[in-house]
Amino acid sequence: MPTASDILRDPAPSLRDLLTFYVESGVDCALLEEPVDRLAEQAAVAPLAPLAAAAEKPVYAPLLRASEMPKPAIRTETALVPEIAIAAAREAAATAPDLAALRALLENFEGCALKSTATRLVFADGNPQAKVMFVGEAPGRDEDIEGLPFVGRSGKLLDLMLAAIGLNRTNAYIANVIPWRPPGNRDPSPQETQICLPFIKRHIELVNPDVLVTLGNPSTQSLMGTRDGIMKTRGRWRDYDTGTRSIKALATFHPAYLLRQPSYKRMAWLDLRSIAAALKANQ
Ligand code: URA
Repeated sequence: MPTASDILRDPAPSLRDLLTFYVESGVDCALLEEPVDRLAEQAAVAPLAPLAAAAEKPVYAPLLRASEMPKPAIRTETALVPEIAIAAAREAAATAPDLAALRALLENFEGCALKSTATRLVFADGNPQAKVMFVGEAPGRDEDIEGLPFVGRSGKLLDLMLAAIGLNRTNAYIANVIPWRPPGNRDPSPQETQICLPFIKRHIELVNPDVLVTLGNPSTQSLMGTRDGIMKTRGRWRDYDTGTRSIKALATFHPAYLLRQPSYKRMAWLDLRSIAAALKANQ
């Protein structure tokens, strides 16, 4: 298999070599039928002067209407100003009276650059009336294609984990902190997480479960406001303030981690039993 440097040295790599190179670099699906010359676009990007002017005005409402946005060639201007996007996200999320409105707000939100590379919004799956809500990190390739969280390999394991305690997508609810797939499944940046956080927090508040389960480190750290790693945070109940009430919250391993480290399934099983017991006690 050719390495990246082989490819770069070879003046005429084969199509197969190029595709291999793309896949290894994380480019595993095409966004458009026709290629786009991003280098040519870069030259056409407007200077950033309007950005400074925009930052002085109350720009929150325009951030939500794509049709009113100036059309930058590569990234939305808001992607360059995380503080504005975070403030806009907070303000917008707080106004959503229900899940349908929250979903519509996210569909129209232009403050997170991940939206422009994702195929579609991955909002949630399962029963919004459920007593338990699971929150993962961000959609992967399969989720991006289907528009539903946890439908790929780790989703299959999550389904098995749920089934082990009598749960499924009719009596549990599933979402992610980040609702758009990061390109090539890279980790979301801290800014992207901060921009998406108000939406998932409002999402949790609207679903109003009795029990919240965070899957893996990123979701646990961002929702529980801790920097501790999953080995320390998992399996320990804590209170989560939804904004309207305090609910029980537990962190456990992300199924993708369990696929890589199956020996931790034993500990995950303890967490699952603890979740089942908490749900029973709440009946
Ligand atoms: N990993 C996640 O965190 N969420 C998904 O939806 C899929 C994989």
